[in-house]
Amino acid sequence: MILVLDFGSQYNQLITRRIREFGVYSELHSHKMTAEDIKALNPSGIILSGGPNSVYGEGSFRCDEDLFELGIPVLGICYGMQLMTHHFGGEVKRADEREYGKAEMDVINDSLLFHKTPREQTVWMSHSDKVIAPPEGFQTDATSPSCPVAAISNKKTSMYGVQFHPEVRHSEYGNDLLRRFVFEVCHAKDDWTMEHVVEMEVEKIREQVGDRKVLCALSGGVDSSVVAALIHKAIGDQLTCIFVDHGLLRKGEADDVMRTLGEGFHMNIIKVDAQERFLSKLEGVSDPEQKRKIIGNEFIYVFDDEADKLKDIDFLAQGTLYTDIIESGTETAQTIKSHHNVGGLPEKMQFDLIEPLNTLFKDEVRALGTELGVPEHIVWRQPFPGPGLAIRVLGEITEEKLAIVRESDYILREEIKKAGLDRDIWQYFTVLPNFRSVGVMGDMRTYDYTIGIRAVTSIDGMTSDWARIPWEILEKISNRLVNEVDHINRVVYDVTSKPPSTIEWE
Ligand code: XMP
Repeated sequence: MILVLDFGSQYNQLITRRIREFGVYSELHSHKMTAEDIKALNPSGIILSGGPNSVYGEGSFRCDEDLFELGIPVLGICYGMQLMTHHFGGEVKRADEREYGKAEMDVINDSLLFHKTPREQTVWMSHSDKVIAPPEGFQTDATSPSCPVAAISNKKTSMYGVQFHPEVRHSEYGNDLLRRFVFEVCHAKDDWTMEHVVEMEVEKIREQVGDRKVLCALSGGVDSSVVAALIHKAIGDQLTCIFVDHGLLRKGEADDVMRTLGEGFHMNIIKVDAQERFLSKLEGVSDPEQKRKIIGNEFIYVFDDEADKLKDIDFLAQGTLYTDIIESGTETAQTIKSHHNVGGLPEKMQFDLIEPLNTLFKDEVRALGTELGVPEHIVWRQPFPGPGLAIRVLGEITEEKLAIVRESDYILREEIKKAGLDRDIWQYFTVLPNFRSVGVMGDMRTYDYTIGIRAVTSIDGMTSDWARIPWEILEKISNRLVNEVDHINRVVYDVTSKPPSTIEWE
């Protein structure tokens, strides 16, 4: 296992991902983790992530410096390298300007991390301060025009530092470098397979739950379906699923969930029709964060009511993913959106939470689902947010607007599938911005809604690019939308990546 300590870089979870892609388990933890706790975790290696601080800044993030004495190999990336340099007495130069983007770097020493990679390589930089003199015992392994000390190493103590970000794909040989650190420096084992994850998680769930009962919040999406399948495998009939139809689901979704998971998987599912309840709570609310919180809370209350009826339920299982937790704001990362699964939990909760997917990324959850035998059409279902269509009707929600989004989404999904693009495009849906514009239909002036198409490619939802859907397909979709959905007279296609946008519009 490789431990990544989080100093607040927007790329830090990518490091964890890259390492898991090698088949080596990796976890991201706060920079505050004590050396004692690190020792107890017994990692084969430690990576100090980048971050926005300066080592000279007041209140800047530090680590427990005793970790450098544990005899565990360390790789410092960007701020992590500066911290290490500062700790061992090297020189870090304060800078006001930021270097951001691609840089050409020269490898000047054959350190283990650069072994067999070209002398000149393109790397991705994102930093202000920089190291100008390595600490005693360290050698400079690479330089770039703006960073005289772009990489350092101390072979004797297995300490390495790089100023650039090897975890970002733009760093040409970044993956090789991480791989070398993991296998050749840390000698980690690549035994982290989905089979192993299932075994581990099943055992953990059995231990946590014993002979008690679990209620699962089933939404029909990939995450909650996989979580239900996993818990079902671990404890069988001690699991009851509650499927809340909050009126914010996609067309045909509720029936599909009941058919596939209830009948197909023999799961114990209770369907609650709570449309009225949710829609009345959302009436007049237009702030996205408030909508999310209301829906999150209402979900919990509905479960509470159902659990009361069921008696003796101790646990609530949720399909919270690693990304949900990170984006909801850790101590070091800024809050972008409070995700439905995490935000808005009432303080006085009657359940303990079980969140067995909360260390996994989306693609890992799909692999886990496949391992568990979850049907392909569910495992490959595109992600759907907990607050559902509520965050795709921008601003205040009305029945009419929900119907527009639901119908248009259905048409979009149909056409994407017909075109055979459903596996290539990570997520595709329609959004209804809160404005109308003038159009002309059958010689008549119209003043109606614009619908937005959002289709993105992504690996884990943390970053994304807009999908290059062929014009002819977009044309077909656009024609169908204006012709078949009432109150749409204009269709726009969202061509922004994340960042700077997010995938959902709210
Ligand atoms: P954003 O819009 O943050 O979305 O770029 C990233 C991914 O997360 C999904 N998403 C949510 N999922 N609860 C969820 O379970 C939420 O509140 C939520 N908000 C966004 C989004 O659909 C995309 O896949």
